[in-house]
Amino acid sequence: MAERITGLYRAIRLPAVYKGLMSVLGADNAIRRYVSEVLEPAPGITMLDVGCGPANVLAYLPELDYTGIDHNEGHIAFARQRYDGRGRFIVGSADQLEQSGESFDLINVSAILHHLDDDLFKSLKSLLNEGGRITTIDNVWLPGQRAVVKLINNLDSGMNIRTPEGYLSLMSGLGYNIQARIFHDLLRVPYDHFVMVARSNPAPSS
Ligand SMILES: C[S@@+](CC[C@H](N)C(=O)[O-])C[C@H]1O[C@@H](n2cnc3c(N)ncnc32)[C@H](O)[C@@H]1O
Repeated sequence: MAERITGLYRAIRLPAVYKGLMSVLGADNAIRRYVSEVLEPAPGITMLDVGCGPANVLAYLPELDYTGIDHNEGHIAFARQRYDGRGRFIVGSADQLEQSGESFDLINVSAILHHLDDDLFKSLKSLLNEGGRITTIDNVWLPGQRAVVKLINNLDSGMNIRTPEGYLSLMSGLGYNIQARIFHDLLRVPYDHFVMVARSNPAPSS
């Protein structure tokens, strides 16, 4: 993990503070667009939300088989209470699920990669169903970026914000077919998001 967790950043780890901050930034509209333009979840599919936080995205999803996992117990307790039976919430990290034999049609990794310095996608590979997708969204460094976006990036608790190439390299060599996209207008404040949609390449036929 590479993140700031002291002082004001400690408060952001509280579910109600995180949710409130997201609301001020206009995250409701951002999530709605992310769901309709990127996640595109078909009703009834199995979905894993890695680092789900308070599971804000679940409010925008159709009926599906949702599992959220996060190592912040407070977020998981908040999500369990908020959604009362709609979905399964686990305290832990995705690599713990590897041994379970479970797999999913859709794996969402939202606002996580810029906090990480580890090998998340290796563990996700075995959790993805054939024909399934992994979706990611994070803030990004871009050439010629607006000064205010750079300032907001510099204040982020996640200390591993990457360039597009940096994010793409996290999946390289793992046999994913990746489509990438940049959004400049998802939030109420100036912000740049980098989105990836990764599919497993089919195994070569013998
Ligand atoms: C910025 S929040 C994003 C929450 C949510 N995905 C969203 O988009 O609103 C990052 C979350 O990822 C969690 N997290 C980071 N790395 C993780 C890991 N390896 N396994 C589980 N949770 C993780 C943190 O506890 C935190 O709740």
